[in-house]
Amino acid sequence: MKTYENLKTSIENNIYTITINRPDKLNALNRSTVQEIGEAIKEANADNSVAGIILTGEGPKAFAAGADIKEFTGLTKEQGMAMAKAGQDVFFSIENSSKPVIAAVNGFALGGGCELAMACHLRIASENAKFGQPEVNLGLIPGYGGTQRLIKYVGRSKGLELMMTAGMINAQQALELGLVNYIVSLEGLHAKCVEILNEIKTKSPFAIGAVIRAANAYDGTGKGFEAELAEFGKCFASEEIKEGISAFLEKRKPNFK
Ligand code: COA
Repeated sequence: MKTYENLKTSIENNIYTITINRPDKLNALNRSTVQEIGEAIKEANADNSVAGIILTGEGPKAFAAGADIKEFTGLTKEQGMAMAKAGQDVFFSIENSSKPVIAAVNGFALGGGCELAMACHLRIASENAKFGQPEVNLGLIPGYGGTQRLIKYVGRSKGLELMMTAGMINAQQALELGLVNYIVSLEGLHAKCVEILNEIKTKSPFAIGAVIRAANAYDGTGKGFEAELAEFGKCFASEEIKEGISAFLEKRKPNFK
């Protein structure tokens, strides 16, 4: 495994865990951390033994309290755009990961931290988790996909309210808005993510990747149906459908490689 300056990574029972390791800065996402997250996602996807990925923050207080505000000082318009582009690209690589990525949100998920959680496929929150897009406090807007993904998850009305008021919501409110899948205790957070990935692990990895690709093609215009057709067709060309169907007909559990 590669070693990273700002991340701790591990593989256990086919699950690759990425832990943002800047707890004294509430895991603020400086540029090198964002870049390293991209590298770790790539590493996890390239490793055939990995079935799923958990992304979390070190310590009991923060998943990530946003982009590192210190790095904003003195940026030009072009440098600001380049910074956002680099972040958006890494966050797209998470969203487009063919292996499921779960955000284990263990505290503050603010600004870029909330955007990072939203780029993951599922979000499990600890009871102390807090979400928000406070960028307007700084004279900024979300730049790592937040203006788009927040609207998608919570709707335009609530999304605009959160972004314009810079208000924070707690885990229960995030659950009610559909932003998170479950709330668990901080101590039980990793175990809950492992439980979900262990369930997903028993399914066809090809089909899981196809579900992600088809779901990511949803854009509200109906174009995603074409992606669904293509992905549905591709499943018939994979080896895994043979195993899945044989197992059903033979009344046994499928054994996907
Ligand atoms: N960028 C850089 N450093 C950050 C940071 C960020 N986004 N968020 C927290 N930190 C640093 C603080 O500067 C502090 O560092 P220091 O000890 O060297 O002074 C350390 O993390 C602890 O943060 P602190 O503010 O003392 O903790 P708190 O419990 O009092 O407050 C927050 C927690 C999350 C409410 C507060 O840190 C905060 O508002 N952070 C910024 C959130 C934000 O605006 N994010 C969007 C950025 S675009």
